[in-house]
Formats: sequence, C-alpha cells, structure tokens
Amino acid sequence: MEKIDLQTFHHIVFFTGAGMSAESGVATFRGAGGRWKEYNWQEVACQRAFDRDPERVLDFHRLRRREAIGCEPHAGHKVIAGLEAAHPGVTVVTQNIDGMHQRAGTKKIFELHGSLWRVRCPQHGVWEDRDPEFATRRCPHCGSWLRPDIIWFEDMLDDKVVAGATRAILACDLLISIGTSAVVWPAAGYPELARQNGAFCVEINPEPTEISGLYQQVIRGKAGEVLPELFEK
Ligand code: APR
Repeated sequence: MEKIDLQTFHHIVFFTGAGMSAESGVATFRGAGGRWKEYNWQEVACQRAFDRDPERVLDFHRLRRREAIGCEPHAGHKVIAGLEAAHPGVTVVTQNIDGMHQRAGTKKIFELHGSLWRVRCPQHGVWEDRDPEFATRRCPHCGSWLRPDIIWFEDMLDDKVVAGATRAILACDLLISIGTSAVVWPAAGYPELARQNGAFCVEINPEPTEISGLYQQVIRGKAGEVLPELFEK
C-alpha cells in the first residue's frame, strides 16, 4: 500500500465512524452484528423514548458505557493521535461517542454526535460523568432525569460543534474517511463537501459505501491494520 506523506498537506481531517472502533470491540450500528439489529433506537436512543422511560434509556447507555470501558483504543487510534502530535494541521471529526480517540491521545476533535461520557440537565447544563454506572441518574440540583449528552436520532446537532467541524472540513486539503457507512446526515455530507472544496479524499472501509465513488482513493481494509501501514515509516 502506498504511504501518505502528511507533510505534503496543510490541513488534514480524519473523519471517523463506528467502524473506527470496531477492532477495539465496540459494536457498529449497521452491517453484521450492528447495534440497530439488536435494539430499536426509537425505544432506547431518542428524546421521545427518554421522556417515556428514562430508566430504560439510561440502562441501555449504561450497557454501552460498560462495553466502552472494557475496550482499548487500537493501533489505528494511536496512529492518528501520533500524527496530530507531529503535524499541527491534523483534526479529528468523529461521529463516535465512545471517547476512544481521546483515550489514544487525540486532542483536536469534534464529536458531532456528542459523548457517552457527559450528561445533561435541562436546567443546569452539561458535565462529565465517567462512571460506567452513571454517578447519578438525577440532577443533584433539581432532581431532573439526566440524559446522556449524545445527539440522538431526531436531535439537532450542536451549532458550535458543527461550525468547528465544517470549518475544518472546508480548510482541509486531505480528508481520510474511516469506518462510516455515510448514511446519517448531516455528517454523511462531509466527504462530498471536502471533495467539492478540492481536498484529496480517501476512504478506509472493508465494505463499499453509498459514496465510495466520490473518493480519489479507496482502501478496502480495517482501520487498525490500514492506518499503521499507511502512515508509519
Ligand atoms: N475498519 C474500518 N471500517 C469498518 C470496520 C473496521 N474494522 N468494521 C466495520 N467498518 C465499517 C462498516 O463497513 C460500515 O461501513 O464501518 C461502518 C460502520 O457503519 P455504521 O455502523 O453505520 O456506523 P456510522 O457510519 O458511524 O453511523 C453513523 O448512525 O446510529 C447513528 O449516531 C449513530 O454515529 C452513528 C451514525
């Protein structure tokens, strides 16, 4: 596989989806073993479900916390974190909520779909809670149920996060898309936006996606295997 020399690019975005964490042991959403084959998101991962049965939604997210805590970032996460340390123009735009990039050392990251490790009170804002069992399920100030700070289906994305991620996408001359089926918008539109803006676009995915045709380079492989081969000297 031909290596990519990041020094020939100024701004690089690693655009990642659930497949980026698959080799760490975190389930993807679609395809074989996909989470949405086992659960109906309308019952466990949207505001309506939370309003209807907060305990059930929190139980579902507690399972995901326990799963993520038991997983480790893989070589691919570490390669991306290492590249950021070596090149000031590297940014991660992720759809993932598992925090795996940050655990590998990534600092510049936009979490388009929020984080499993933050909770949100409607009155008292957002704070970090890294307890797999949730430190508390109700706001200590007002007693409201605390919802995970995740962008669920039917939620609007966070304006500030979208603005930052879009800025990074528009500024990049290299976009590397890893482990996303590119079916959930607006995130799914980012590779096209980068391509239209003149970036060199690469797809790393063992399977074809609906937008594989827009990338100048397609690498059919796994993130944890391809990234070290692509970037390590
Ligand atoms: N390396 C790279 N890609 C992989 C690997 C791997 N080891 N294993 C699987 N993949 C690919 C699959 O082929 C698939 O294209 O990862 C992709 C995972 O797709 P999805 O499960 O749909 O995940 P994602 O694209 O991140 O979903 C987007 O949907 O449910 C919502 O909010 C959720 O952020 C999520 C969004």
